[in-house]
Amino acid sequence: MKRRGAGTITSGDVGQRVLLQAWVQRRRDHGGLIFFDLRDRSGVVQVVLRPEDRPEVAAALAAARNEWVVEVEGEVTRREPEHVNPDLPTGEVEVVAGRAAVLSRSEPLPFALDGKSEAAEDVRLRYRFLDLRRPELQKNFLLRDRVTHEVRNYFHERGFVDVETPILTKSTPEGARDYLVPSRVKRGSFYALPQSPQLFKQLLMVSGFERYVQIARCFRDEDLRADRQPEFTQVDVEMSFPKEEDVYELVEELFARIFPLGGIDLPKPFPRLTYDEAMARFGSDRPDLRFGLEIVDLSARLGESGFRGFKETVAAGGVVRGFAVPGAAEASRKEVDAWAEIARRSGAAGVLTLRSRGGELLFQVKNALTAAELQGAAEALGLEEGGLALIVAAPAKVAATALGTLRLELAKAFKLIPPDKHAFLWVTEFPLLEWEEEAGRWFATHHPFTSPDPRDLGKLESDPGAVRARAYDVVLDGTELGGGSIRMHDPALQSRVFKLLGIGAEEAQGRFGFFLEALRYGAPPHGGIALGLDRMVMLLAGAPSIREVIAFPKTASATDLMTDAPSPVDDRQLRELGIALVEEDREDAKDT
Ligand code: AMO
Repeated sequence: MKRRGAGTITSGDVGQRVLLQAWVQRRRDHGGLIFFDLRDRSGVVQVVLRPEDRPEVAAALAAARNEWVVEVEGEVTRREPEHVNPDLPTGEVEVVAGRAAVLSRSEPLPFALDGKSEAAEDVRLRYRFLDLRRPELQKNFLLRDRVTHEVRNYFHERGFVDVETPILTKSTPEGARDYLVPSRVKRGSFYALPQSPQLFKQLLMVSGFERYVQIARCFRDEDLRADRQPEFTQVDVEMSFPKEEDVYELVEELFARIFPLGGIDLPKPFPRLTYDEAMARFGSDRPDLRFGLEIVDLSARLGESGFRGFKETVAAGGVVRGFAVPGAAEASRKEVDAWAEIARRSGAAGVLTLRSRGGELLFQVKNALTAAELQGAAEALGLEEGGLALIVAAPAKVAATALGTLRLELAKAFKLIPPDKHAFLWVTEFPLLEWEEEAGRWFATHHPFTSPDPRDLGKLESDPGAVRARAYDVVLDGTELGGGSIRMHDPALQSRVFKLLGIGAEEAQGRFGFFLEALRYGAPPHGGIALGLDRMVMLLAGAPSIREVIAFPKTASATDLMTDAPSPVDDRQLRELGIALVEEDREDAKDT
């Protein structure tokens, strides 16, 4: 007899004999009747056993408890109307056990799988193979499977070629630390795990593949967050001869295919904001557009005001900006203090409030602004009766970050994010370079292979910070889903950019010689994008973290609690690799 999925048995099967092989989710003994809820990937069905009628079946299952694997053969019958369970797809029927056997026993579980147990995440990760039995988690992986399947079909239909690229490779800078793998054969030398297949996909364009796609594993040693893992998966794409518009269209059509799998509808085309606009109006390069609280520039209006804090900031080249939150006029002193602390963490001196209450406008610093100034500011901010505005005076970048963070904080605090709304957008025209004070040099905002905007080429050496890149990010609900760019295919321009990044000719040759060389042999204009697959599935599944959509994820300290990786290796392995540990590291490894 062929095995049936427990969750597939319905009233259409009444009268049929079926074979179930599944896990015992729950056992209930009711005197003359024993009930088993049997669970497999397809769902749950109730099995009923009458020990009086079938003593041999009762004996076979006598010891069976939760999470044992059993085999039951029996007839599907209709439940009495009063026993129908409308919450269960199989709730109208039950299987009357005619034969049974235990296939596998289970020790008592370290935590209950009913989803109600508050088992600490580290216990669940330690027993991930059990955690993954939970239907809520399995649902995420079935969704992930459908998404990857759609992705592959989509690109295949459009003539993209799936090519795998090396995992043991040379450093590809994406802004994080590399994971290194020591070579045994070439002692003292290391491979780097790819932070992305960036250089290889560009080389495939030089090779004439024209359209490349790969569902690629990437590795980055960086601080982890809810939407970051040290190894993660990208839908990695590259095309020859594209314009930005080709990439936008390709991604929008892909999303139109996969986001409906999670019940998310999308606009067409996606709205676009330049980086400058996004920073000024939303204080973020991945703005969450599900709600308003738009940031307004008050510098011109208040820079000349009597309030010294504003006047001096604007005179020093800074800005005065703020946003209004409807219904927040009654915010407490404690709340305002907490917001000021958030602003300080972004480097601002604090935050100032302007309240509209009882027909009056109340600025935090009494008598600092005239009635006309208050009125003008309130109008510009769209501040209405019962509302509160937060205002920051600081250098533009600091003000943007502070207000961007506060905007999210207040939207959450005042529940202004509509639960079923989603907002996609493109952020375009990123700056090519960013100055890092600590290192005292320019860094590539995206990566060093992104093409400068031809309109700004003249400023490359004279005003590098003002040069825009042909780079774009696709954002959903405040999460960066993907990023890409049109690349440089001219080796001379690539060398110029390396130079700006402080990578001299010799170093460029050592690190990227093969790549610069490839650009000299008929490299076509090319560009592409990489989409974070884990992040997309996380948002589709409505999961709070990408750990919920990665089968065997790592903790915030990048360890795998189940396998206990990373772990010390024995001295023989180290000797073979020509590696000697510093004594204190050896001690540390023992302790952890
Ligand atoms: P980028 O670095 O922007 O671009 O990465 C592309 C997308 O990958 C996802 N992502 C991550 N997801 C989970 N954990 C991480 N640690 C992590 N880091 C990145 C994000 C991000 O938008 N080579 C370029 C692409 C290109 O230029 O074509 C690149 O990797 O969703």
